[in-house]
Amino acid sequence: MEDLTGCAPNETIRKMQTREARIGIIGMGYVGLPLALLFSDERFQVTGFDIDEAKVSALNAGRSYIVRIAPETITNAQGAGFRATANYGEIEQMDAVIICVPTPLDEHNDPDLSFVKGTIESIAPHVRAGQLIVLESTTYPGTTEEIVIPLLEAGNTRGLKAARSVEQVGFHVGFSPEREDPGNDTVARHDIPKVVGGCGPIAVELATAMYGTIFRRVVPVSSTSVAEMTKLLENIYRCVNIALVNELKQLCMRMGIDIHEVIDAAKTKPFGFQAFYPGPGLGGHCIPIDPFYLAWKAREFDFRTRFIELAGELNARMPYFVVDQVAAGLNEQSKCLKGARILVLGLAYKRDIDDLRESPSLTIIELLKSRGAEVAYNDPYFPTVGKGRHYDLNMVSTPLDEIEKFDATLIVTDHSSYDYGAIVEKSKLVVDTRNATKGIESAKVVRC
Ligand SMILES: NC(=O)c1ccc[n+]([C@@H]2O[C@H](COP(=O)([O-])OP(=O)(O)OC[C@H]3O[C@@H](n4cnc5c(N)ncnc54)[C@H](O)[C@@H]3O)[C@@H](O)[C@H]2O)c1
Repeated sequence: MEDLTGCAPNETIRKMQTREARIGIIGMGYVGLPLALLFSDERFQVTGFDIDEAKVSALNAGRSYIVRIAPETITNAQGAGFRATANYGEIEQMDAVIICVPTPLDEHNDPDLSFVKGTIESIAPHVRAGQLIVLESTTYPGTTEEIVIPLLEAGNTRGLKAARSVEQVGFHVGFSPEREDPGNDTVARHDIPKVVGGCGPIAVELATAMYGTIFRRVVPVSSTSVAEMTKLLENIYRCVNIALVNELKQLCMRMGIDIHEVIDAAKTKPFGFQAFYPGPGLGGHCIPIDPFYLAWKAREFDFRTRFIELAGELNARMPYFVVDQVAAGLNEQSKCLKGARILVLGLAYKRDIDDLRESPSLTIIELLKSRGAEVAYNDPYFPTVGKGRHYDLNMVSTPLDEIEKFDATLIVTDHSSYDYGAIVEKSKLVVDTRNATKGIESAKVVRC
């Protein structure tokens, strides 16, 4: 008869400490791949799972598809045993499995958990007793208990259940939010505290032991729902505060006050204030999306999350505001938007990254085109842009030495490789949504 007891928790913890534990990471994207490399750095034997065969082949060939991850990092990890696969049969060999798959919104702005569900259904038959399964994908409170565990239990061919007590034999399930901030190198990854919630005490103990090998501080919380909600609070806090400064920026412009000077002065206060900066609108996989996971869940409790809705509305209006500012700037030069040639600088949703998911540039380009402008873009991270879930641009990056041919240069993403002095000098009009031209005095610059 098959041994259902699996590895005793103490034995798994010992394997974590001695790095003998095998770690499987599902989803080799912006979150999963750096996490896999962190474990590899700590000499764990890591297997990366992905349904995208192109990513699996690239990784196994020692290639990177994320700009800030050097290929040598992949080949070094391979030296420690890292490999990628699309074969879920290998899940059984793992001591711990971490899930980092996308959690987007569907066309009605409701949570789309199809990637999480698809992953769980695929791994469920291979999960064995004693294994630790941790979801890292951002989601609403209750997902681990209401979706992940029931699907794992229903699909497990051994009839195993999640172990909720020390006595119970089964697999262990946890949730741990990801706190990756792409392009931000001010805090080393291992210095970012890792919150973990588990379904039962052993799950928390195992997750704490596992993450304790790569993070200096692990913060255990009392349930997976608390861990899920922690991530949403962090992102909603950002979303609401960004909306606040975006609104105050518009008031300050009318009042002739520089919002950036105000923020710089306010942030000298040593307590009770954290600086957030206005911009052209939200971008990325997290801030524009995650708050709506909670807004959706709140409806089940007959509750309206008004702050989230208001912030969403204010932030979503920003690309329209930016386009109006371009039109106003052209108007000052006796030109109109229709027929004007506009060069958009930066497609990525933020500085120095190669990610354009939900980028405000995409909306701004479409709005400019719909108002009759001729639009081109430049982005060192995107030589071309094609078709995505929410855009269909089919454009090629325009070299910066053609800047003089345009009626206006619109700075949407303030990549640090740009020479803003030269950009202002060569442009006929600069509309700057990021305060990138700070300190450059020129009548050609509109800061908004
Ligand atoms: N990118 C960030 O900065 C960030 C920060 C914090 C949290 N998160 C959250 O982390 C999660 C992952 O985000 P990401 O940015 O890494 O996404 P991503 O799109 O970069 O990567 C996801 C990967 O999962 C793979 N995948 C999808 N379904 C799969 C399946 N069934 N089996 C195996 N692989 C599958 C995809 O092919 C892709 O490679 C999301 O929930 C996101 O909200 C992202």
